Amino acid sequence: MGLKIAVCGKGGVGKTLVAGVLARLLARDGFKVLAVDCDSNPNLYMTLGIPEEVVKNVVPISEDLDLIERRTGSRPGSSWGSLFRLTPKVDDIPARYSIIGPDGVRLLIMGAPPRAGTGCLCPSYAFVRELVRHIVLYERDVVVMDMEAGLEHFGRSVARGVDLMLGVTEPTERSMLALKRMADMARQMGVGSFWAVLNKVMEDEADWARGKMEESGLDVKAIIPFDRAVLDADRTGISPLDASPDSPAIRALVQLKDLVEEEFA
Ligand SMILES: Nc1ncnc2c1ncn2[C@@H]1O[C@H](COP(=O)(O)OP(=O)(O)OP(=O)(O)O)[C@@H](O)[C@H]1O
Ligand SMILES: [Mg+2]
Repeated sequence: MGLKIAVCGKGGVGKTLVAGVLARLLARDGFKVLAVDCDSNPNLYMTLGIPEEVVKNVVPISEDLDLIERRTGSRPGSSWGSLFRLTPKVDDIPARYSIIGPDGVRLLIMGAPPRAGTGCLCPSYAFVRELVRHIVLYERDVVVMDMEAGLEHFGRSVARGVDLMLGVTEPTERSMLALKRMADMARQMGVGSFWAVLNKVMEDEADWARGKMEESGLDVKAIIPFDRAVLDADRTGISPLDASPDSPAIRALVQLKDLVEEEFA
């Protein structure tokens, strides 16, 4: 179906849970799914159910200095102001550098270019920018991106290629206000659709939170309950989809997956 989904939200709201479970559920329905971990502190592999031993030795793309040097013609951090290619070749990266996990989901660990340090990091930025642009424009089937908190890194050219942004929020005033801002920004940037996803919701908060979101003009497409099983899975390092496939949070995510398929298939 050629669907690009970006999962956004403030820190700790449940972006990785939503991205990881959704990726696997879509894969189970027969879609070829590429999951992209865009967090500088990557942990999507856990939710996808990929063992730590497998990812332990994987260098995030943005930290693979040899690769970036080969493709851009300049080593990040080396000589200041050296010339480099602004549009390096990246089309083979998703296939060559992704790891295959349960249900056949492919995972690409992007990492984030180091922020501090000496020397010019422009080649790293150029490489990651081009790769993300390539993924949202040209990768076929389904792409699910687990984004870093905030939208600042999200360029206009990338936003235009995203069909669906899932904005995850907890049912607190602060988190919901932040989501409203994010939705406005996403719209201005040209993101296709923005769906609000309420997560970690207690039974008696659901109506209030939905009302609040709708007051600010946001479509709430999923209400994921606060679920001990998700926390327990986290502690044991097992994907919640394997540890507790029938838990309330997973059931809510199955409904969200169905909505996504209905809307975009
Ligand atoms: N519905 C839920 N019920 C209970 N705990 C949850 C739920 N959703 C997420 N959590 C827990 O909250 C924590 C944060 O979740 P997660 O890592 O998915 O958030 P995140 O937005 O990706 O965080 P970060 O900004 O650090 O990347 C984890 O410990 C997770 O197990
Ligand atoms: Mg995360």
